[in-house]
Amino acid sequence: MSDRRANKYQPALVLLHWTLAWFIPASLAFGFLVLAKTPNTDPRKLDMLQWHMGLGMAILAAMGVRLVVRWRSARPAPAGLGTPASARAAGWAHVAFYVLVFGMAITGYATGLLARLNEIVFARSGAPLPPTFDAYPTFHAHGWIAMLLAVLIALHAAGALWHWLGRHDGVMRRMGLGGRRVD
Ligand code: HEM
Ligand code: HEM
Repeated sequence: MSDRRANKYQPALVLLHWTLAWFIPASLAFGFLVLAKTPNTDPRKLDMLQWHMGLGMAILAAMGVRLVVRWRSARPAPAGLGTPASARAAGWAHVAFYVLVFGMAITGYATGLLARLNEIVFARSGAPLPPTFDAYPTFHAHGWIAMLLAVLIALHAAGALWHWLGRHDGVMRRMGLGGRRVD
């Protein structure tokens, strides 16, 4: 881990943050609002699963790159604006994002393995999907982690918007591009 300090996050981390800030909520919305509501007998479900699983694996790869960049680059010191407890909560929330997103990809992938989705969805073997994924504990874990992730994103985004529009205290700029200084 780098012990150098900067006034902003590394530009690659910033680009990954804002890219994933669209793709992760979009995958959550697609999962809850579309996938979960489409029965496995619907012929469109194979294409939907193919998109969802492909995008989920891309998110996993991007999150892995992001973790490595985070470890290796100089990061800003904690903003030091709230109470010590709120600063600790923000730090833990950032760690929790990595844990939950990896948890989503692992439980999704495991469900895919258990239900043989690589053959059914990607190789189009012609075999039917199981009637539901309810028999797989990994699928239930996928749904629960998704709910935790959605709550955390809502709190995180609300906190960021509060700093930006309510407090005008520069926290948003730390996750922006340009004018980066490393000491
Ligand atoms: C990391 C980003 C991911 C997010 C945010 C995400 C989100 C979701 C959500 C919200 C659901 C609906 C859960 C429910 O019905 O309660 C879902 C379903 C599912 N996901 Fe994911 N997922 C991700 C990655 C993956 C990956 C990588 C795979 C497989 C390789 C996968 C496979 C599945 C499957 C098989 C379902 C069941 C479809 C159904 O509801 O009928 N997911 N996902
Ligand atoms: C509208 C949506 C979002 C806004 C406005 C936002 C804003 C921010 C801001 C301003 C920071 C810098 C905080 C600091 O200085 O300590 C930050 C950091 C962070 N955000 Fe977000 N964010 C959003 C969505 C997301 C999503 C969907 C994720 C899920 C992965 C996420 C994960 C993180 C993480 C892990 C950090 C810590 C830095 C890092 O390791 O990348 N954010 N966010």
